[in-house]
Amino acid sequence: MAAAKFLTYTRGGTKKLEKPFEKPVIVPREDDQDPAAHAWADARFATDIMAEHGLFFALLMPPELARDERKDALQFSRKFTQLHIRIVEAGPPEKRELKRFTTRVIEAIKPFIDYKARLGEAQRKGKLRSLVWPLFFDHTRHEAERWTRRLEQLSAGDSEFEKAEVAGFWDNIMDEHARFVAHLLDPDESELIEKAMDTSKVFQELGAGGFAGAAAALVKKPGTVVNALTTFPETSAVLSAAETILDFKTKAARDIEAGRIKSIIDPRLADHVRREALKFFDELKRAL
Ligand SMILES: [Fe+2]
Ligand SMILES: [Fe+2]
Repeated sequence: MAAAKFLTYTRGGTKKLEKPFEKPVIVPREDDQDPAAHAWADARFATDIMAEHGLFFALLMPPELARDERKDALQFSRKFTQLHIRIVEAGPPEKRELKRFTTRVIEAIKPFIDYKARLGEAQRKGKLRSLVWPLFFDHTRHEAERWTRRLEQLSAGDSEFEKAEVAGFWDNIMDEHARFVAHLLDPDESELIEKAMDTSKVFQELGAGGFAGAAAALVKKPGTVVNALTTFPETSAVLSAAETILDFKTKAARDIEAGRIKSIIDPRLADHVRREALKFFDELKRAL
């Protein structure tokens, strides 16, 4: 890999990873518009995310309740892990290989989108009784669909991030993460549950009405973790919110790992949502 072309984000800002749960996020340098570099970094990120979705489904599918669905989830997880390793090892594609590279990843994601849609529907109707919420199936499907859209855009030679798309997609994802966290915390963690719900509200408002809505949510919820919003002008409001939820998730990941937070949040899930917040933050900086 041409390492100089890429930046590596870590929790602590140094080269050292917080073992065993932290994974780095690798992105093209800030001034790099090369679609092949972006396609490699995004495929690298997304295939690992997909592998983890499969793993999280399996964790939430007791064999007594969803034996076949669990098997399929683990199969997806293995398939994406293998693809991820191949992408990491091969490094960025040549320009002439870009189309083939993105098509391969998109084609791998498609059956997982179908699986998430089918099982989401079954869980919603009570035909499947796993411990995966319907919203978790929807959420992970929306992520899969977004990565295929992004790779299609890159395969056409366009690497630019559009602010409305980036904020629109990730505001919703951040809102849902906050609600997932709230519902996976030990019910005794009242203060954190409230913080998570307030954070969700801010991202809902940002998604619906932009800055004014978020500011209104803050007035109603002065205890929110996104206090910094009030001190920023409108253009930076989403960036500030993204940075604040990233800090919140980094702290939560560390506290979950150290057992300082009582929850049923798997440390791998905590790091997963932290990396997604980081990606949001990075994309937003490029889009502004
Ligand atoms: Fe995800
Ligand atoms: Fe997510």
